[in-house]
Amino acid sequence: MAPKLTMDKFVSLCKRRGFVFQGSEIYGGIGGFWDYGPLGVELKNNIKRAWWKAVVQERPDMVGLDAAIVMNPRVWVASGHVETFADPMVDCKSCKRRFRADELAREHPEPEAAHGHAPPAYPTRCPECGGELTAPRMFNLMFRTYVGPIDVEAEFTRAIQELQGEDWERASARIRDLKDELDRATAYLRPETAQGIFVNFDNVQTTSRKKLPFGIAQIGKAFRNEVTPGNFIFRDREFEQMEIEFFCRPGTDEEWHRHWVEERYSWYRRYGIREENLRVRRLEPDELAHYAKDTYEIEYLFPMGWSELEGIANRTDFDLRRHSEYSGRQLTYFDDETGEHIVPYVIEPSAGVDRCFMAFMMDAYDEEEVRGETRAVLRLHPALAPVKVAVLPLSRHEDLVPVARRVWDLLRPHFMTQYDDAQSIGRRYRRQDEIGTPYCVTIDFDTLQDEAVTIRDRDSMAQVRVPIANLVSALKERLGDP
Ligand code: GAP
Repeated sequence: MAPKLTMDKFVSLCKRRGFVFQGSEIYGGIGGFWDYGPLGVELKNNIKRAWWKAVVQERPDMVGLDAAIVMNPRVWVASGHVETFADPMVDCKSCKRRFRADELAREHPEPEAAHGHAPPAYPTRCPECGGELTAPRMFNLMFRTYVGPIDVEAEFTRAIQELQGEDWERASARIRDLKDELDRATAYLRPETAQGIFVNFDNVQTTSRKKLPFGIAQIGKAFRNEVTPGNFIFRDREFEQMEIEFFCRPGTDEEWHRHWVEERYSWYRRYGIREENLRVRRLEPDELAHYAKDTYEIEYLFPMGWSELEGIANRTDFDLRRHSEYSGRQLTYFDDETGEHIVPYVIEPSAGVDRCFMAFMMDAYDEEEVRGETRAVLRLHPALAPVKVAVLPLSRHEDLVPVARRVWDLLRPHFMTQYDDAQSIGRRYRRQDEIGTPYCVTIDFDTLQDEAVTIRDRDSMAQVRVPIANLVSALKERLGDP
């Protein structure tokens, strides 16, 4: 069954229920940046926890890392990002819209291309207004910043002011000096978390004393100055990645590549994504990144069509060799059986937290008819659900409130909970269903007599009565291992 949430409905649900807000909304927003609200941050943390559990905690051959976002800029020269991490950009001379030329070429092939003649490299006409497009310019996606007490704008403004009346030779020498100073202070916000792992290969390997094959996992922010961010949180300028660099012996890389494609596919299934909305696609040679020998993508059937959730690349020994060359430090593994220093090959499963967020929510969303009304329910896996248990007193009656508060106090140390006493109990169940709360605990007048409460199941809507004394264990048993 294809997901029931359209993009508009999804965006509206995220805003209305406090999952995702537009970044800096009160100032009109800022393209490609999003803020996660109270429920969003819970879901995001749960996704990251589920990933970490599967790829670090449960495996004997993995360790974790949390490297800095800003790295020595030579890292990005060695990795190839300074030279090649760029998209072709074109502007419409009439309506001033900006496009990625490669996307335009794919989505709106020019008529000659459609008739089988040699296509022009990129379209020349604006798909919106038909105006003439500029020639494509390569645009590096890395965000630049400056490290240390240097204020670029102020420095240039001062230089230009001082220049007035001076001769051009002195002026250009001064601008050259300033440019050198800026180059020395330039750094980048990382466009992928991967490089933090490669540069720490030796540190991690020697301190954790891991033998090949082993992997290093990391979750963290990444930044790309995307030409056309869009599709809500699908393509952002600030996003989070969950990346693994798995180091293995050359020659075993293809086998490990297959292993990781299966592992990662199973993880999405384990946390509830339906088989029919998930597929694995092998990239064509012309789609491969500069470092990859082979790549599989795990794709999800988003409202805009099949799109990448995660890439699993065979990066060979490209990165370790390049960092050895550029840093002068040998990033090799000493094989004590053969006495050889080898450069491991790397398999890299790289997932986006924001895209997982979208896929898990979209796949979990369901609508059904219940007693003549439509019930919207988010059938999230209990481990991912932002709120695990809602505490609902039947009413605000003065006799019920103290008992309900006592039950809430009892549950809060164990589960993420919500207390809700506003409006009818039916409406409160619907509110919890829509945010994916697996269980509601209702306190009614019988509770005052029998010290028992009702547990109501989100999916089946079945209700069972449980003594308050057994409530924590009854819920733990139902929720399973988070
Ligand atoms: N280290 C490899 C790497 O970064 P990638 O395919 O460019 O590979 C990996 O990115 C994952 O990061 C993607 O599969 C996607 O889930 C996520 N991702 C990449 N760019 C993104 C963006 N602009 N917004 C949100 N997620 C993004």
